Amino acid sequence: MKLHQGWRDFEVTPMPRSKSSSKKPLWIIFLVSLVCISLIVVYIYPPQQYSSCYLLSSKVCDHLEYWLPPVPARVLTDDELTARVVMRDILAMPTIPSKRHKIAFMFLTPASLPFEKLWEKFFLGNEERFSIYVHASREKPVHVSPLFIGQNIHSEKVSWGKISMVDAEKRLLANALQDTDNHHFVLLSESCIPLHNFDYVYNYLMETNISFVDSFVDPGPHGAGRYSEHMLPEIEKKDWRKGSQWFSIKRRHALLLLVDSFYYNKFKLYCKASMEGNKNCYADEHYVPTLLNMADPSGIANWSVTHVDWSEGKWHPKSYRAEHVTFDLLKNITTIDQIIHVTSDSKRTAMRKPCLWNGMRRPCYLFARKFCLDGLDNLMAILGNFTVF
Ligand SMILES: *[C@@H]1O[C@H](CO)[C@@H](O)[C@H](O)[C@H]1NC(C)=O
Ligand SMILES: *[C@@H]1O[C@H](CO)[C@@H](O)[C@H](O)[C@H]1NC(C)=O
Ligand SMILES: *[C@@H]1O[C@H](CO)[C@@H](O)[C@H](O)[C@H]1NC(C)=O
Ligand SMILES: *[C@@H]1O[C@H](CO)[C@@H](O)[C@H](O)[C@H]1NC(C)=O
Repeated sequence: MKLHQGWRDFEVTPMPRSKSSSKKPLWIIFLVSLVCISLIVVYIYPPQQYSSCYLLSSKVCDHLEYWLPPVPARVLTDDELTARVVMRDILAMPTIPSKRHKIAFMFLTPASLPFEKLWEKFFLGNEERFSIYVHASREKPVHVSPLFIGQNIHSEKVSWGKISMVDAEKRLLANALQDTDNHHFVLLSESCIPLHNFDYVYNYLMETNISFVDSFVDPGPHGAGRYSEHMLPEIEKKDWRKGSQWFSIKRRHALLLLVDSFYYNKFKLYCKASMEGNKNCYADEHYVPTLLNMADPSGIANWSVTHVDWSEGKWHPKSYRAEHVTFDLLKNITTIDQIIHVTSDSKRTAMRKPCLWNGMRRPCYLFARKFCLDGLDNLMAILGNFTVF
């Protein structure tokens, strides 16, 4: 497109003519000017293969060109350029060598974890392949499983829907990143349960280099309606995404979230409750989906591996009490193999997509929420030693 514009600019400029030139055949003038114009165009817009991405012929590279194009559409500020350069290099970095390959299970909870006993059953026998971090924001949890004792990290108060939620996520990531054996990072709440045995979960997450981050375009008031033009020019409306906060991400994406202060500050300032025009924006539902969609769109699956039921259309998702916890319910959740995103506009459009894992259609979910404490006995009885699903 730019090339085309370049040509057009030259065409509208009339060629200066002198009297003597009229004697020469017209085609020579035409040929010479064609060569000149070509040279100028090549000089202004060098062919892509001469850029740094020539050697790295991958999908990642195609994207890095967009993230840091050779000719940016606008002049980037110092901070924005710094952020983009650092993030690009993090995404292109090889994975850190380590003896073990562990998954970090990061629990974001107000207090005690009601399903520790269930998680203990899930973890037992896999001690070399996981680590646990607990961020308890309200009161010190009482642990009933030895696996959880000593795993509390320093925590701060968290308010629902506020930036402190994102801060707590970053705090968990920073703690978990200290261990170079951690290659994948799963964010869980106190009401989350595992749906499959450890091997299934481990292989599902580790045998792909995709992060499972929920991210979709919602044109309605709870999606695009929360975008603020104060985020321009760095975050355009077309980049704005929505998604559940319960992510499961690769080390490179965890690092990327940790180093980012540039985009984070935009959300801190312009995505909060009771903004201008009575708008409410919740940073934990937009920051990670939007940033990762901008920085590495093909590196995220666009769905979360943690199931939640929004079908009741209320302000909060469905909570499962003891009487809801049946074999049929769990079987239903574990067999879902398409993701449904419903827009918040009046059309309530349901967008369905198959869950593609390394190109294969597979069940979408490894974990589920929101389960109430009284369901523990039923869950233990059904999931037992995790040989059912
Ligand atoms: C993703 O994983 C595949 C196979 O495991 C590997 O060949 C490929 O290089 C990886 N891609 C990136 C960007 O790491
Ligand atoms: C996720 O969505 C983005 C667009 O929002 C798309 O570019 C990307 O390819 C999607 N990721 C996958 C794995 O399909
Ligand atoms: C499970 O799914 C079936 C078929 O979609 C449905 O009829 C049934 O009510 C579901 N059961 C529960 C407990 O959700
Ligand atoms: C786990 O389940 C298997 C097969 O259903 C059974 O043979 C085994 O005894 C169970 N183990 C425990 C500890 O419950």
